[in-house]
Amino acid sequence: MPSFDPDTIRCDFPILERLIYLDNAATSLSPRQVIEAQVTAEYNYRANVGRGIHRLSRMATHQYQEARETLKKFLGGEHGTLSFTKNTTESANIVAQGIHWKKTDRIVTVLQDHHSNLLPWYRLKNDGLIEDIDAVTTVSGILDPAEIETCITRNTRLVALGHASNVFGTIAPVKEIADICKDKEVLLHIDGAQTAPHLPLELEKIGCDYFSFSGHKMLGPMGTGGLWISPDVSGDDVPVPLCAGGGMVQSVRGTTFATVDGPGRYEAGTPNVIGAIGLAEAAQYLTRLGMKNVADHSAALARRMIEGLAEIPGVRVYTPADAPLIGTVSFTVDGVHPHEVAYLLDEAAGIMVRSGEHCCQPLMHALCLNGGTVRASAYCYNTEDDVDLLIATTEEIAGMVK
Ligand code: ALA
Repeated sequence: MPSFDPDTIRCDFPILERLIYLDNAATSLSPRQVIEAQVTAEYNYRANVGRGIHRLSRMATHQYQEARETLKKFLGGEHGTLSFTKNTTESANIVAQGIHWKKTDRIVTVLQDHHSNLLPWYRLKNDGLIEDIDAVTTVSGILDPAEIETCITRNTRLVALGHASNVFGTIAPVKEIADICKDKEVLLHIDGAQTAPHLPLELEKIGCDYFSFSGHKMLGPMGTGGLWISPDVSGDDVPVPLCAGGGMVQSVRGTTFATVDGPGRYEAGTPNVIGAIGLAEAAQYLTRLGMKNVADHSAALARRMIEGLAEIPGVRVYTPADAPLIGTVSFTVDGVHPHEVAYLLDEAAGIMVRSGEHCCQPLMHALCLNGGTVRASAYCYNTEDDVDLLIATTEEIAGMVK
C-alpha cells in the first residue's frame, strides 16, 4: 500500500510554508522531484528527439519515449496512442479539427462543461462542418447517463463529456456513458483535465475513444498535457494532425507527404521534451502516493468544506454533498462579489482560491450567477487545517455584510 501523509507530502512543496493553496483545479503546484527531473534533463540531455544520432539526442529520445510509456500506464491505456500536447484544450481541438466530419453529423455536449470542451465542437457547427449540437442541459453538477442517451440521435457522431465538473467538482458516470456510446456506435471524447490529477484511471476499461488531459493540474509543468486515442479508433475517426511539419512526416515527394503512424503524428515541430519528462515524473510521484489515496483525500476535504461552508449564514454552496467528488467546491457569499471574497481570503489569511465564471459561461448564465462563484479546490498536499481556515475566514467575510 503506497504511503500517504499530507504533512510529509507538503515538504516537497516549499511554497506551502507561506500560504494556503486551494486553487488546484486551475493549476496545481509542482513538487521538488518534478522540478529536479527537468533540471537534470536540461543539464544532461537537452536535445531534439527522434532527429539526431549523437549521444544527447539518443538520451533525450529515450527519456521522451519512456515518459510516454509512463503516462500511458498511469492512465490505464497501454494499448492506445498517447501524444504529448500543450494542454487539454489543444488535445480537444486536435480531435475536433482532425476528424473527417460529414455535414449530417451531430455532436452531444453538456452545458455545464468547460469552454474547452464546448467551443471546439461549437466551432464545427458555426463553420458549417456538422449539422448541429445537441446539448444536455443539466446544470446541477449531477449527470444522469439517460440524459446523454436521450440526446443521441441517428446522426450523432460524437459525445463530448467532461469527466468532472471544474465548477461543482462532481464526477460524471463515464463508464455508463461509454457503454451507451458503444451500444449506439457513437464516439466518446472525455475531457479529463479535472480527473487525471485526482482519480485512478483505467481508460481501456472505461472504453472511451479520446481522452484529453493537462499536466499543470496534476503536479506537472505548465504547457504540458496529452491526447490519448483508443486502439479501436480507425478510418475517418483517426484525427488528421492539426499541425504539419518536421517530425510528423514519413515521406515527402513533390508537394505530397505521408505522416508517421503513432503518437508522433500530432507532435509536429520540436516538442516540449523537458516538459514531458517532468510530466512523467509527476505521474510517478502520484503513483507513489497511490491514486486511490489521492482520490479519497481530495473527496474527504471537499465534504469537510461543504459541511462547514453550508452552515455559515449567507453562504450558498453549489457543490452537491451526496455526489462523487474530486476536491472542488463552489460557493457564493450573499452581498459580496466572488472576486472580493477571493481577494479577502488572500489578504486576511493567505488563502488562494479562484473566483469568477471558471470558463463556464453557459453554466453561469443558466444559474443566473453574473459574478460566478468562489471556487476552492483541494489536492494531495492540503490538510483539514487548510479547510478549517477557509471556513473560518469565509465566516468572517460573510459576517461583515449586515
Ligand atoms: N480550467 C482551469 C480552471 O477551471 C483553468 O480554473
